[in-house]
Amino acid sequence: MNVLVLGGAGYIGSHMCKLLSTQGHQVVVFDNLSTGHREAVKWGPLIVGDILVKDDLENLFAQHEHFDLIIHFCAKSLVGESVKQPNDYYRNNVVGTLNLLDQMVKTGHDKLVFSSTAAVFGTPSVEFIDETQPRLPINPYGQSKKIVEDILQDYFQAFGLKSVCLRYFNACGADPDADIGERHEPETHLIPNILKSVLSGSQQKLKVFGNAYPTADGTCVRDYIHINDLASAHLLAGQYLDNNQGAYAFNLGNGSGFSVLDVISAAEHVVGNKIDYDIEEARAGDPPVLVADATLARQALGWEPQYKEIEKIIATAWGWHQNERF
Ligand code: UFG
Repeated sequence: MNVLVLGGAGYIGSHMCKLLSTQGHQVVVFDNLSTGHREAVKWGPLIVGDILVKDDLENLFAQHEHFDLIIHFCAKSLVGESVKQPNDYYRNNVVGTLNLLDQMVKTGHDKLVFSSTAAVFGTPSVEFIDETQPRLPINPYGQSKKIVEDILQDYFQAFGLKSVCLRYFNACGADPDADIGERHEPETHLIPNILKSVLSGSQQKLKVFGNAYPTADGTCVRDYIHINDLASAHLLAGQYLDNNQGAYAFNLGNGSGFSVLDVISAAEHVVGNKIDYDIEEARAGDPPVLVADATLARQALGWEPQYKEIEKIIATAWGWHQNERF
């Protein structure tokens, strides 16, 4: 297949490109390099452009014959930042995606896998979140993704554009060969922050945001899913659209919840050291518990996560952070 990966220089996008390439597919990456890294684009050409610039998208589609599948990762994705800058989030995530969709319709492309998020659910009242749960986002990031999910329903009805939205829970880990991995500036995610605190000899001491949540140990509980398991779900989702006509959405997680303190303790086993931390104020917009019920993705897509143990996931991230190449 010829696959266009928008946002392919980013964390999830670059792992997607590696998987596609190792499975024999041709990859073209489109990325504005605002948060992605040129060095992470190793499995196909990079076209530097922005989904907010219609000419960039027009040129992209004009330069290439046809893409069998389009995977869209370009997004702003920080909950806290979205609360402070909702304008940027709606413009980039919603308007940018509309630009892409219009270009797809115009050029006869009808297969999209879209990067959505558990944040569309807000603060659910159930322990395991399946696709029947109401989508009630509590921050502009989640709201921007929910809006696109709805737009995709309408684009299927009006234009026959088929899509799968994949709602990630907590993406983490790295390529086990450590060719690529997670690098954000600034880093806000838990596992890289834990490992960076270890590598800095506790100079960058870890902060735990809140210990009075209604959970067993008072810290937030999340469902950590390995980046390569997420990537494999995108490929299966693309294949699903060969035989299914519609606009679909699936939740992607391991189905196990780990508190922040559980993750720290698992990381201690991986690095073989005690990890110091300070308890800080809770972050704005963090729900107490988010754990997936991914039964539908398993049944419909035939998806089976390979990384089920949190320590194995952290070990791949540790492999990357010890030798970060970009
Ligand atoms: N945390 C810390 N210290 C840190 C970083 C994080 O204590 O240095 C805590 C957070 O407060 C949270 C947990 O660790 O309780 C996980 O935080 P991350 O930043 O790693 O990830 P989030 O849970 O915020 O993000 C996930 C998904 C988003 C989704 C969001 C919904 O990655 O796509 O949940 O709230 F939007």
